[in-house]
Parts: sequence; C-alpha cells; structure tokens
Amino acid sequence: MAIRKVGVVGCGLMGSGIAQVSAQAGFPTIVREVSANALEKGLGSIRAFLQGGVDKGKLAAADMEKALANLSGTTDFAALADCDLVVEAATENLSLKRELFSSLDSRCAPSAILASNTSSLSITEMASFTKRPGRVIGLHFFNPVPLMKLVEVVRTVSTDDAVLAEVNGWVKGLGKTAVNCGDSTGFVVNRLLIPYMLDAVRVFEQGLASRDDIDNAMKLGCGYPMGPLLLGDYVGLDTTYSISEIMFDEFKEPRFAAPPLLKRMVLAGLHGRKTGRGFYDWSTNPPS
Ligand code: CAA
Repeated sequence: MAIRKVGVVGCGLMGSGIAQVSAQAGFPTIVREVSANALEKGLGSIRAFLQGGVDKGKLAAADMEKALANLSGTTDFAALADCDLVVEAATENLSLKRELFSSLDSRCAPSAILASNTSSLSITEMASFTKRPGRVIGLHFFNPVPLMKLVEVVRTVSTDDAVLAEVNGWVKGLGKTAVNCGDSTGFVVNRLLIPYMLDAVRVFEQGLASRDDIDNAMKLGCGYPMGPLLLGDYVGLDTTYSISEIMFDEFKEPRFAAPPLLKRMVLAGLHGRKTGRGFYDWSTNPPS
C-alpha cells in the first residue's frame, strides 16, 4: 500500500480523532494546527482519550505508548510535505478550504492523496483548487471518531480508481468500515440524518412532546444510542444548523430547512455540549 505517512490538518474535535486512529493503526501521523495552544489542546485530548481507554481496560498501556510514538504535531504547514495522505479537518469554510487545498497541492508530492473530512461542502470544488483532481477524495469520519466505525469515502467524477482503492484500504487498516458514495451534499449519512434531527426540533417546537419524551421515544423505540435532541447538542447545534443551510441551499427542499427554534438557539449561543448548553445543560454528567 502506498499510504505510509499521514498528515492531518486541524486538531479540533474531528482532526484529533482522525490523527489518533491513524497513529493507533500504526501510521506515522503528523497533525498541524494554527497555533501552539490549539495544537497542545488537541494533542491533550488525544492523550486523555487514550488514557481513558487504558483506564477502562480497552487499551494496553504499551499500545497507548506506540500510538503516541507514531504521533507528532506541528504548526508548520511545510512539515506535511512528505505525507502520502493528508486529511483536511479544518473549519467548514470554503475560502479556508481553498487556501488549504492550494497550499497542500503546491507543497505535497504529486503522488500524495489529498482528502477532506467535510460533512457538507463539495469535494469536487475542493479538487478544483488543486492541479491533481484525480487524487482528491472525501473521507468523512463520525463523532466520536475513535468509537464510530464508519467512514464515508467520497469519490468525485474525477477521482482515480486507484486512489479510491488505496483509501478504502487505509480505512480498513484503521479498523473502520468504508461506505463509498458520490459527491452529493451531505453524502449518505447527513442526507438522512439531518432531516431527522430537524424534524425532532420541529416536533419539540410544536409542543408534540417534551424534550425527554422525544429523546426517549427514539432511543427506546428505535434502539438509537442517543435521542435526536441530545445528538444535536452532541454534534453541535451550530454545526447542525450550518449543514442544514448548505443542504437547503443545494436541494431547495423544505425537509432541509432549519426550524426557527434551531436558528434562535444558535443565535443565542446555545450550541450544545461545546458551549455548555443547548437542549440540555452540559455542566452536569450526564447532561440534564
Ligand atoms: N477508549 C477506548 N474505548 C472507549 C473509550 C476510550 N477512551 N471510551 C469509551 N470507550 C468504549 C466503552 O468502553 C464502550 O465499549 P463497549 O461498548 O465495548 O462497552 C463504548 O466505547 C461506548 O462508550 P460508553 O459506554 O462510555 O458510552 P456510550 O455507550 O454512552 O456511547 C457514544 C457513547 C458512542 C457517543 C454513543 O452514545 C453513540 O453512538 N452516540 C451517537 C453518536 C453519533 O450518532 N455520532 C454521529 C454524529 S453525526 C456526525 O458525526 C457527522 C456529521 O457530519 C454531523
């Protein structure tokens, strides 16, 4: 397999998870953040997750050490130049992606594969920011990355077959399952998940049932690990809102339109877990 060294751009919630699972799978992995503070915060969350695995008896201490030995951090973009695969997991902002992809394209070897973890922006558009559209692909991980088994591998009309095969092999090497899909906004999971989450907010807004009854209904009635309102808080209500806006803009279908309550909660800073409050109060454990 041609993928030996892996780069990750961004060490936030998703980037840190991707860097962690790559390093745990034995790939020398370098993760880049914009500042030393942000990098240290991200690397700290990886160490804490691995330590949590050791404490729970899920991970041998020696495997934690091996994973950490495979992992390095940088604030220098040039340090990604010798990576065979770079996964971009920066903020969902197209002009930032343009800057990152054109910078990666000019620094990395022509053989390197450039991937994005975007959940809703177009991989084809990101490929157009490079001179290697055949070697650009989507790699959409799920939160929490170390625990969620799925990766959506998104090919554009230009992605080379060999690149798809290499990336599918890498995902398998992480111990995850790849689902292959085309480059349509939201791919498979968010195409189905976002309308469901928006509907949950709608029925809550309409007073059909209480927050806890909506969440318990779907958790206990359908066997989902979390109810939709708790999941919205967990993913981030701002993130859910922004994905719904992008999907509505693409498809112009009411099922992707954000309900007024969601918009207002976002405007009020009630983003869920990340701000301490959304549908739930996250200052307690479990959230109440
Ligand atoms: N290291 C290793 N293993 C760990 C661990 C650690 N640090 N922490 C937890 N685990 C293990 C636990 O031991 C447990 O293992 P078993 O099942 O073998 O017992 C498992 O992971 C689950 O952990 P917990 O028991 O602590 O927690 P939980 O059962 O409440 O599950 C959850 C937590 C995985 C988050 C679960 O609630 C869940 O799956 N929620 C839904 C998450 C989801 O839908 N994510 C997708 C969001 S959408 C998205 O990301 C895409 C987008 O674009 C918006």
